Amino acid sequence: MDPLKTLFNLSGGYADTQILMAISQLDIANHIALGNSKSYLELAKELSVNEEVLLYLLKNATGLEIFHELEESEGVFRHTPLSIALRDQEYRDFIMMKASIYSLRSWESLFSTLKSGNSDNKTLGFNSIWDFLNNNKEENEIFNRSMTTLTRRLGPTIVEKSNFMNFETVTDIGGGHGFLLQEVLRKNPHLKYGINFDIKNSGDGNTNEVTSTNVDKRYKTMVGNAITDEIPETDCYILKHVLHMFKDDVVIKILKKIGEKLKSNGSIFVYELYDEELKNQKSAMSHFYLHLMLVTGGVERSNKRWREVVQKAGLQIKEIEHIPNSVEMPVLAIIGCGPSGLVSCKSALESRLIPKVFERIVISVIPMIGQQRCVVNNKLIDLQKQLSSDNTPFIIISRNYADCVLAEKIHVVQHPITEIQGKTVWFANGESREIDHIVFANVYTYELPYLCEEVLRGLEYNPNDKLMPIVLHKSTIHPTLPNIGFVSWFSSAMFPIIELQVSWLALVFSEDLAPLTKEQIAEDKT
Ligand SMILES: C[S@@+](CC[C@H](N)C(=O)[O-])C[C@H]1O[C@@H](n2cnc3c(N)ncnc32)[C@H](O)[C@@H]1O
Repeated sequence: MDPLKTLFNLSGGYADTQILMAISQLDIANHIALGNSKSYLELAKELSVNEEVLLYLLKNATGLEIFHELEESEGVFRHTPLSIALRDQEYRDFIMMKASIYSLRSWESLFSTLKSGNSDNKTLGFNSIWDFLNNNKEENEIFNRSMTTLTRRLGPTIVEKSNFMNFETVTDIGGGHGFLLQEVLRKNPHLKYGINFDIKNSGDGNTNEVTSTNVDKRYKTMVGNAITDEIPETDCYILKHVLHMFKDDVVIKILKKIGEKLKSNGSIFVYELYDEELKNQKSAMSHFYLHLMLVTGGVERSNKRWREVVQKAGLQIKEIEHIPNSVEMPVLAIIGCGPSGLVSCKSALESRLIPKVFERIVISVIPMIGQQRCVVNNKLIDLQKQLSSDNTPFIIISRNYADCVLAEKIHVVQHPITEIQGKTVWFANGESREIDHIVFANVYTYELPYLCEEVLRGLEYNPNDKLMPIVLHKSTIHPTLPNIGFVSWFSSAMFPIIELQVSWLALVFSEDLAPLTKEQIAEDKT
């Protein structure tokens, strides 16, 4: 390793940020059709940008595994899993939020924050990030959409773990777009009303989300500062990703204020990133620690620190829980303060993917490369690693597959692949072939390496049964594990069927369909 080269490259990290930002802002990923390629000349014309600069931007992006430049035609690019992800507004929003001007300026103030321990927004031209967002409509929209994306993924689990049954009214302090509060109201028809109390002008960003969907009539908004203004009086308070933006003294002040309003049977639910988990992650998420300090002056807290802070506010923690890490982010802690307690759930940390007590988890054998939304077959990953970087796998659903097989353009080989060297693929029977492309994953073997022996026995799992290795009710649920759903666990599972299974499981797990009894499941294993 040449230290000069390494340090030179590392110190250009800002370039990667800006490249990602430009790609997202121009929405380049949606200008290249899936499965197709496009030249930078065509792209420059469509995007009305300079050809030469675009060419080098795209070449640099390939170094980040975003787009792939065809070897045979310079300046022509096709998709990679990451560029495919960037076709999705959600992912572009996250990039634009992280690389927005207030974030960049906050990072410029690293040295000053290092000296003072405080976020230095004032010298950067705004009082706080909220002040900045209030005055920048577009940035505010992006911020709110990103927060809502996170909440949309985490919300249902959070709501499920928090018991609102004893309450009639609820305030979401710093509720942003209001998605979580909507979810709480939707799942708790007994609640009289919920107030989204947020410092940000709710006129634009906040109501955007809730007016576009059917706003619950019980949903109200109130603009206010939780530190200086009067807080509404309700039975229960929610604070999600809010208190981590403040130093201990401010958190104590806010909690004290809420505590004064809290009735004897009231509760405060605090949802924050799980500090202990963050510490184990070297790169991306530990940036987040610093990012939070620089942008907001706040900090992620350990369980111990939470206990101290809550105690100083004159409140008592009933329970700290770790909920499953469903959005590839560190596990959240739920803290219930005040006289009444929280429901319990097992720590996902103890058992990573599959908790000892089964939470509601759907296992699919369909690998979603690049999106990490489901469990990926380990063997496929091993093989993927052997592919040259020119051959980044991508997902495609093709109508022409059967025709290509008939025309012998695709050769079906029934032996497992053991090795890939350049264009040569070796099979388990010792034969090898020269190939142009590999079509993976049109046939699956079923493996459950993440489930323990005892559970597999309970499932009557038979790995040699290639048609249906586990016999399940509606091919999705087993009587011994009614809280775990299996999707596509039978031969020839096609997307429409998978879609139906997922929808059905979602209904069952969300209890929109009456929960199944063990007897029902056992009776009808088909
Ligand atoms: C990180 S966002 C979280 C939003 C939402 N709870 C969620 O998880 O999607 C923090 C929210 O706190 C609000 N906020 C910041 N300071 C506040 C204060 N002093 N009083 C009330 N709300 C505040 C911001 O406007 C923003 O909507």
